[in-house]
Amino acid sequence: MKVSTTLAATPGMETSKLSSRGFPTVVDVDLGDRSYPIYIGSGLLNQSDLLQRHIHGKRVLVVTNTTVAPLYLDKVVSALTNGNPNVTVENVILPDGEKYKDTDTLMKVFDKAIESQLDRQCTFVALGGGVIGDMCGYAASSFLRGVNFIQIPTTVMAQVDSSVGGKTGINHRLGKNLIGAFYQPQCVLIDTDTLNTLPDRELASGLAEVIKYGLIRDAPFFEWQEKNIQALMSRDPDAFAYTIKRSCENKAEVVSQDEKETGLRAIGNLGHTFGHAIETSCGYGHWLHGEAVAAGTVMAADMSYRLGWIDESVVERVNNILKQAKLPTTPPEMMTVDMFKSAMAIDKKVADGILRLILLKGPLGSCVITGDYDRKALDETLRAFCKS
Ligand SMILES: NC(=O)c1ccc[n+]([C@@H]2O[C@H](COP(=O)([O-])OP(=O)(O)OC[C@H]3O[C@@H](n4cnc5c(N)ncnc54)[C@H](O)[C@@H]3O)[C@@H](O)[C@H]2O)c1
Ligand SMILES: [Zn+2]
Repeated sequence: MKVSTTLAATPGMETSKLSSRGFPTVVDVDLGDRSYPIYIGSGLLNQSDLLQRHIHGKRVLVVTNTTVAPLYLDKVVSALTNGNPNVTVENVILPDGEKYKDTDTLMKVFDKAIESQLDRQCTFVALGGGVIGDMCGYAASSFLRGVNFIQIPTTVMAQVDSSVGGKTGINHRLGKNLIGAFYQPQCVLIDTDTLNTLPDRELASGLAEVIKYGLIRDAPFFEWQEKNIQALMSRDPDAFAYTIKRSCENKAEVVSQDEKETGLRAIGNLGHTFGHAIETSCGYGHWLHGEAVAAGTVMAADMSYRLGWIDESVVERVNNILKQAKLPTTPPEMMTVDMFKSAMAIDKKVADGILRLILLKGPLGSCVITGDYDRKALDETLRAFCKS
């Protein structure tokens, strides 16, 4: 396994200075012949070459939504076509929202691709947050049995997590992300300037995944976050450039060891079993993914403490940092123990009858994936966080 981080311009210069001058930091995801670079920096959408070097055919389909299109579609089309008259760009603008991450909306991507007579050499470009990235990636994996794919993530959530690692898919009425494929992009281009237009609540939602990386495998990064959480909340560009880079490195390292989630990669799901139960029970979209994950992370920490696997101080630090990030630390009041249990039963069925959880164990920055825990601790946690 190798994850190399390089600066595309002069080596030795500080990342923060480079990013503010428009040179990308590059994190390489090492997956043999499916390896690809993640470019991170300010103003990268003005650098046509970065995108164009990854376009192989002459046709591109940009998949975006009604919120992101007015902000960045023209810019992306210019980046794809500047000095490159051979390339033609189509676009499809989908409705915005997690509730549209479904088969009907997916079909709109195929409709556009087929009507435009796109061939196997075409490239699908996902421009937007995790919903667009997951849906466009899944469309790219199955259109004509697989076409080129580029991610241009524009939310913190997508820049630190969903655009990296090749998980793509859509939701089913009975559960999130149940239909999908592993499909790696040709590259990921992260222009940190796109975060300037992101609503505060979405920004915080993405930080839940950043905090997750610290807890599961990177204690120094968690400690850095504790010191810099206010800088992140005030959108300090250098703090964000560092956060995105460290997050992508953590994710890339895990993914290159376990691309298809046969084991280790599941650690990225800390807080997600509880979180998915919240998302499914509340109806998609009422609670943002990161908000549900934040409450789920506190529940996972609580259960780990009840099992005697972590110190109380870790539980406190988890609560503190999430509160400072203005994220929820308890599930919504309408959630009952039974709602958690029935949503978790679907997860359990998917995993051969064993409900494996990601729990914290040992010093800060260590976790386990396990189905081997005292069921009493799970019941106690659910009762502690639900009114009925
Ligand atoms: N594939 C994976 O590995 C993975 C990992 C984590 C999350 N996810 C998925 O990602 C999704 C959540 O992603 P998300 O949090 O990015 O949500 P999202 O895609 O719904 O984006 C959040 C909101 O921000 C808007 N937006 C996006 N970029 C913007 C910008 N630059 N300025 C202003 N508004 C902008 C969107 O239109 C949307 O309204 C979930 O479906 C989740 O399952 C996937
Ligand atoms: Zn997540």
